[in-house]
Parts: sequence; structure tokens; C-alpha cells
Amino acid sequence: MLHVNENYSKIQASYLFTEIAHRVSAHQAANPSAKVIRLGIGDVTEPLAPSVVAAMHRAVDDEAGRTNFHGYGPEQGYAFLREKAAKIDFQDRGVDIAADEIFVSDGAKCDCGNIQELFGGDVKIAVGDPVYPVYVDTNVMAGRTGANDGGRYAGLTYLTCDASNGFVPGPEATGDADVVYLCYPNNPTGAVATLEQLQKWVDWANGRKALILFDAAYEAFIRTPGIPHSIYECRGARTCAIEFRSYSKTAGFTGVRCGYTVVPKGLVAYADDGTPVELRPMWTRRQTTKFNGASYITQRGAEAIYTPEGQRETKATIDFYLENGRLMKEALQSLGYGVTGGGDSPYLWVDVKGDSWAFFDRLLKEANIVTTPGAGFGRAGEGYIRISSFNSRENVLEAIERFKKAL
Ligand code: MLT
Repeated sequence: MLHVNENYSKIQASYLFTEIAHRVSAHQAANPSAKVIRLGIGDVTEPLAPSVVAAMHRAVDDEAGRTNFHGYGPEQGYAFLREKAAKIDFQDRGVDIAADEIFVSDGAKCDCGNIQELFGGDVKIAVGDPVYPVYVDTNVMAGRTGANDGGRYAGLTYLTCDASNGFVPGPEATGDADVVYLCYPNNPTGAVATLEQLQKWVDWANGRKALILFDAAYEAFIRTPGIPHSIYECRGARTCAIEFRSYSKTAGFTGVRCGYTVVPKGLVAYADDGTPVELRPMWTRRQTTKFNGASYITQRGAEAIYTPEGQRETKATIDFYLENGRLMKEALQSLGYGVTGGGDSPYLWVDVKGDSWAFFDRLLKEANIVTTPGAGFGRAGEGYIRISSFNSRENVLEAIERFKKAL
């Protein structure tokens, strides 16, 4: 008899954004003429940068001829992309990361989900609350969390992120955790962490041979000077951190799919007898066994982000989304709502002073606006909704009018 992975029965029936999509479909079916504005999942709306599109067209032409045809790519990704990522994302900022420490992939979500395969089943995990569900669910699937009891897993350590700590927890409450997931700018709260705050985490991790899994998917939204874009801006982070980068929000690649993960040389976990084992060769082994790379065409597109035009174009698109966020934040604040996030992030975290799923339903029914209920990100998300700034200006202005009417 085929035995199922029982860990799946501990998990919420559907992924948060799938549940929201079901509710929106039901609403749309019942109200076919309603013009629904989607400020829920953080999916980009603006087209790819022209320089990215041109590079991808050229890459298609390469694939069409015998001379420049590319089959399977190099296992870590093409050097042309890794070298530019290492230089522009790190070295030009004074951060010591080399091209051979970068692993190109089809996006940060997969890498965030897959990385836990490198660790023992008994490893203790700490996550923020609220939290991007992928960090939690992938550890549930792997059997590391125990049962779900009232929305929390007994085997996880939850670090509450709320107004009292500015939505940035410190390492004080991590207990015996071996791995902590950190995401800054944060999904879902939009909060950013200072260098001092991240340095405390790095010192904590180095002090107890623990590991930080740092999700920097939203770093391109940082506009406040001095806010770190990478965990490796902290002293000693190379010996205690893996970082995930995404081109999804940086350059509109949610549909194209490309990102990368940084696993520094010399970063180790420990065998049963205490022998250090390097994680970089393990990740290479994992990826070469289970993954065949992002396509050549995609990687040529990603490379174009690093040209001067690509940098200018992608920055302009992010500025456009940030302005969407600023307009909505201002409107919601003028309606009396407390709003975190926005300035350095595409997400607004809105204090709705009540049940977040009820508020989500109300906005959907009364204003035809899709948001994300904070409770979907964890117990400490109750009382909030998340609003995404990814949309056209026309829709954002229309949403503001609807907020004013409905709220
Ligand atoms: C989100 O809305 O939280 C993200 O877009 C989801 C994701 O990146 O998987």
C-alpha cells in the first residue's frame, strides 16, 4: 500500500494565494460585471524593460542558428550573468561575494523552499510572524515542525513582528533555533532592517553556529540611504548566511522566472560527529541532481538588467510602483488607518483594527478590491491586511477612490 507523506496533512489545505484566488473567482462569478482591482499577490503589472526584451530577442535568434545555439547551460548558471550579479549587486557596494558563489535559478521561491533539504530533520527553525508562508510550509512538508495547533506549529519558534518592535524582531527570543529565515525589506509587513539590527542577527548566528536564510527579494525597492541591501553588508555574514535574490520584483520577471542564491565558500553545517561540512558543494550537488537551470534566453534577459539602460529602466519601473504605494499610503492614512511599509517596499501593511479576513471580504464585496489578509501570514498578522503596490496608476487611483467610498 502506498503510504502518503503524512506531513502534508498538517499543512493548511491550500496555499494562501490559492485560497484568495478561489474567493476572488467566486466573487467574480457572482458579480460578472464587477471590475476587480488586484492588490493582493505581489505580481508585477508593468512590461519588461526594453533592454531586457531586446536581449531576449537576440537570445532567441542565437537559439535559432547553429553557431550560437545553446543546449544545457553550466550548472551554476552562465558566467556572463553570475559575473555581473557579483560585481553590480555586491562588489560595487563593497561586499565580498564572487561569481562562483552565485547559483542562478528559476526564482527565489523555489530556492527558499528547496534549501532546507541540506539540513538535518532535527534542525530547529525560527521564523517571523507574520511570515512568507513558503518558509513554514516547506519545513512542514519535510517533517520538521510537528502538528499545527491553533495556527502555529509546536516545533517552530515564532518571532513576533509587531508595532512594538517596528516589525523587526531581534535574536533574543530564538531559543535553540539553528536556522532563522529573515526577509528584508519584509514580506508581508514592508518593514526594513538597519545594518545594526542585521548585525545583531549575524553575531547571534556566528555565536551559536546557526544559519541565517536571508531573503532579499525586495532589495531593489530600498530608497532610504544606509539600509542594507544584502546580509553580507554585515561583518562576518559569510560564515553564517545564505542569501536569495529574485529578478521577479526587481525587473518584472514573475512570469519569466529567474533569480539566484548566494552560498559563500567556507559556509558550513555540521555532521553528527561535529565535522564541518561545506554547504556550497552540497547545494551544487542538489541543484545538479534536481534542476537543469534557467533558460539561456532568460539568463540573457537577466544579464541586460545590469547594463546602464537596464539599470535605468528597471529603477524607473520600481519608482513607479513606489509612487503607487505612496499614493495609497497617504490616502489610507488620511482615512485614519495606520500603515507600515511602502517607502522601501512594494507592500503596505495596514492596521485594520479588526478581523483581517473579514476586512478582506468587505473590501472585495464592497469595493471590488483584492488585498491579502494579514492572518494568512500568521497569528501576528491578525488585524492587518497587506496591500501590494504592483498595478497600473489608473487602477491605483481608482482603488483610492473606492477606499474613500467604502471605508
Ligand atoms: C507575495 O505576494 O507574497 C509574493 O508575490 C508571493 C511569491 O513571491 O511567491
